[in-house]
Amino acid sequence: MSDSSSTVIVDLPEPRLSGTQSLEETLTSRRSVREFTDEPLSESDIGQLLWAAQGVTDPAGLRTSASAGALYPLEMYVVGSTGLYHFEPARHKLSRCNEQDLRPAIHRTALDQDSLIEAPAVFVITAVFARTQSKYGPRGRRYVHMEAGHAAQNLLLQAAALNLGGVVIGAFNDVELHEILGLPNNEAPLYLLPVGHPQSPY
Ligand SMILES: Cc1cc2nc3c(=O)[nH]c(=O)nc-3n(C[C@H](O)[C@H](O)[C@H](O)COP(=O)(O)O)c2cc1C
Repeated sequence: MSDSSSTVIVDLPEPRLSGTQSLEETLTSRRSVREFTDEPLSESDIGQLLWAAQGVTDPAGLRTSASAGALYPLEMYVVGSTGLYHFEPARHKLSRCNEQDLRPAIHRTALDQDSLIEAPAVFVITAVFARTQSKYGPRGRRYVHMEAGHAAQNLLLQAAALNLGGVVIGAFNDVELHEILGLPNNEAPLYLLPVGHPQSPY
């Protein structure tokens, strides 16, 4: 990420640590949502969703999602109309990596799935496999994929608890998406999560 626009830093509001919906209600209400209204996500919602996926919840740096050996191979990004932003869990901040709206390009490389162009925000989970494989060898690859599932589920459950909706998307061209996002060579895109206000409440 060597774009000069990366100097733009967004201080996210502190994550809320309580809510109005029980875990059981949230689990029951989670459904894949692929159609959204035009309403944007607030910074508070974006911060809350990123915190649910990878937020720091312990002075030792431990996070909301489990991680093999606490090595934290995952990186989180959010794409919207004002660009591509990288989440920094320790500081709970975003840094801008690209000023362009990358959603049309992401849409194209993910089989033209319309949820990706309709959603006001597309979250991206990427991974640096070497962080985990340096300790666990080839088996570490499996752990990283498991962790992406944990983080994605946390994000979707948080979305449901905020009366937002989203879906996990695994169908995209790996090489093209890597290029579109401008990721470093050692980082791979794993999951896309378009999120927004559901068109019809569920
Ligand atoms: C690994 C994985 C990949 C998926 N990829 C896509 C996808 O590319 N596009 C999509 O619309 N949904 C995708 N889904 C969502 C499933 O279609 C959805 O979870 C399933 O239909 C069950 O519905 P529910 O999530 O509402 O319970 C994916 C789900 C998983 C777990």
